[in-house]
Amino acid sequence: MLELRNIHKSFGDVRVLNGVNFRLEKGFVYTLVGGNGSGKTTLVNVISGFIRPDEGSVELKGKRIAKFLPFRVNRLGIGRTFQDLRLATQMTVYENILLALEKRKFAYPNKDQQSHVDEILKIVSLSEKRNELAGEISYGQQKLLTIGCCIANNADMLLIDEPVAGIDKDNRLKIIQLVKQLKREGKTILQIEHHHDYIKETSDHILQMEKGVLC
Ligand SMILES: Nc1ncnc2c1ncn2[C@@H]1O[C@H](COP(=O)(O)OP(=O)(O)O)[C@@H](O)[C@H]1O
Ligand SMILES: [Mg+2]
Repeated sequence: MLELRNIHKSFGDVRVLNGVNFRLEKGFVYTLVGGNGSGKTTLVNVISGFIRPDEGSVELKGKRIAKFLPFRVNRLGIGRTFQDLRLATQMTVYENILLALEKRKFAYPNKDQQSHVDEILKIVSLSEKRNELAGEISYGQQKLLTIGCCIANNADMLLIDEPVAGIDKDNRLKIIQLVKQLKREGKTILQIEHHHDYIKETSDHILQMEKGVLC
């Protein structure tokens, strides 16, 4: 489904990705592990179009996408979350999901869209937080909300950067169930995580990154 060949990326003199090769097949959960600064987030940025690689190709279902801007990559079915969340903190939980809805064109959502948002809020256990500002719910709930936005976006492939880092057990268990559910629905997931139990519970394949290469 997604194939990376010989991806290189440097920031100034610092070589961050040094010839990354891999292939992701539809319907599996892949977990990228490796020390801080090993290039995991940079790799997600390359796949999602936020960073252009210096060298190498990214192919999605046979289409070369390495030079595409993020919105185009997203239209082709790749959604992502951010390690630093990047929610619209001054908008409500409900509005954040609404903004992420696939094919949202109008400021005023119709009845179907409204009930779809409420359905997603239920899936990510945030119905009770519907009308609170995204910046005022707990950190764990904010992580759930970022995954809710990804679900709303309806991408085939989800790139999830550190879904459970720094959150409590209850929310971690919820996210484990969510990832399993997304996999059952046929989604392909590439996630970055360090949490041992979480990795064991959710991963089909583990990719170890060291000094900008997968080993
Ligand atoms: N936009 C950027 N500009 C300069 N350096 C960056 C940028 N993004 C990442 N880096 C550097 O690249 C290295 C790898 O970062 P990152 O991919 O975030 O690692 P990881 O997610 O594995 O912790 C780090 O040394 C980081 O400081
Ligand atoms: Mg990172």
